[in-house]
Amino acid sequence: MDKIVSLCKRRGFLFQSSEIYGGVQGFWDYGPLGVELKRNLKEAWWQDMIRGHNDLLTPPGAPASFEMVGLDCTIIMHPQVWKCSGHYDLFHDHMVDCRESKKRYRFDQVRGRWCERGDQKIFVSTLAEVEQEFDEVRRRAMKFFKLRAKNADELTIADESLTLDKLDDTDSVLAPDAKTLGTLTEPREFNLMFKTTLGALGGEDDTTFLRPETAQGIFVNFKNVLDSSRVKVPFGIGQIGKSFRNEITPRNFTFRSREFEQMEIEFFCPPDQSQAWYRYWRDRRMAWYTELGLSSDSLIMREHEPAELAHYSVGTADIEYAFPFLPPGEYGELEGIAHRGDFDLRSHMEGKLNPNSPEGQPMQVELNEHGKPKYRGSGKDLSYRDEATNEKFIPHVVEPSAGADRGVLAFLCEAYTEDEAPDDKGQMQTRTVMKLHPRLAPIKAAIFPLVKKDGMPEVAQEIYGELKQHMNVFYDDKGAVGRRYRRQDEAGTPFCITVDGESLRDKTVTLRDRDSLEQTRVKIDELSFALIERLG
Ligand code: GAP
Repeated sequence: MDKIVSLCKRRGFLFQSSEIYGGVQGFWDYGPLGVELKRNLKEAWWQDMIRGHNDLLTPPGAPASFEMVGLDCTIIMHPQVWKCSGHYDLFHDHMVDCRESKKRYRFDQVRGRWCERGDQKIFVSTLAEVEQEFDEVRRRAMKFFKLRAKNADELTIADESLTLDKLDDTDSVLAPDAKTLGTLTEPREFNLMFKTTLGALGGEDDTTFLRPETAQGIFVNFKNVLDSSRVKVPFGIGQIGKSFRNEITPRNFTFRSREFEQMEIEFFCPPDQSQAWYRYWRDRRMAWYTELGLSSDSLIMREHEPAELAHYSVGTADIEYAFPFLPPGEYGELEGIAHRGDFDLRSHMEGKLNPNSPEGQPMQVELNEHGKPKYRGSGKDLSYRDEATNEKFIPHVVEPSAGADRGVLAFLCEAYTEDEAPDDKGQMQTRTVMKLHPRLAPIKAAIFPLVKKDGMPEVAQEIYGELKQHMNVFYDDKGAVGRRYRRQDEAGTPFCITVDGESLRDKTVTLRDRDSLEQTRVKIDELSFALIERLG
């Protein structure tokens, strides 16, 4: 992971936000290569899910043909949205404070191990990355027990690494930044929404939130979309946009950030078909990641256990990736596909529903101590009338919700490869190559004159100008050609085009393939076509 992080900074994929001032935790900036990669990922999603969807055909595995439309909602919405959605009451993590260091941690993310010396057993916790965790636990335990290196065998450290939420209590815990035991408070709820204030007066009534997900913007516009377009259930609305969560412990590079982008679909369908649509979206979304290059060995679909599901849901599955910062055998969520029943549309219509309503009955509106709705809905009719059957119902929702930043991170991790390639003298050297899918690659092709003379730069610049109209290409005439190849391999550029002496005679160039290293001669006239064909 360290090598990937360092390449990302060195080559301009990702930078820490506000780095010159020491950075700000949980916020990341995309550099010149990173912004292209992220845009390509979002455009691939938009093209494959929304714009390129053919509503006249029934895709393989789908119960019927369907329509897909897009939306772009505001980040700040009416505060009532978050009350009816449940985020105001329920969107929290558990945190603990350390009375000694005054630091705050997320309860389920601090890891550690039981350590024993003589008859004393303590739990030593740390925020160290997985690879360093054991050594860090040992170092802290040695210090706590005041052991010298020569007495290290007096210490026993458990094989199993646990998070704090798996312990019965925290009395024997050595907190990550503490010197004494039992300094952690009881876990408390911490709402993850960022608060902000509307207007200049700034009273309590003017408090609102930066959206923690893009989904709610889709639900509250459901009727607008129905009334303004000719879509019919089943159909989906997709949105890409920023979301904000005040994560207690942002970590693992961009994996858990405080500002990130989501790519979400809310798919509206008749209640009696929702199970079949859930299965369709789950499988379709999984296939999308493998088609773009994630290896199926590193990707799993984790179906939630029945006990984990809300009673209105027939299923939720997470698509998870074996990120290299996780211990072997552990996976991190890339996307969740949730069957949400009619929870969201009914909550925005009638008032926030009680997710703990009795099993087997329709959900009830949650009431306050006066027997009135705790959070009033909009009162707008969000039901749908099927013109063919004249049946009126509240559509059920299947929600494939992906993170653009986590997607970028997974594709970067998957792409990072070290192999061998010949240098300018034909000697085999280790090379670092980002094997990004051509659709995602920030630069599609690089154009080099072999030398900066004999008319080669002029021909190369002409090719560059021509290709630039169709795709992102890069011109480089600095240094030995082998070094120019290496620079492009690290940037993930799938093709390099070299103009040489032969080019001037027969109007051909060499086209080098990043992965196979194969070089073929292509006519300059046919270059655009050859590239577009290879890029897919
Ligand atoms: N509307 C449903 C929803 O927001 P979620 O599982 O909380 O569901 C969906 O988020 C996706 O958004 C996740 O699978 C992940 O890819 C991304 N995501 C969530 N929190 C994130 C964070 N703090 N940093 C980066 N990505 C995040």
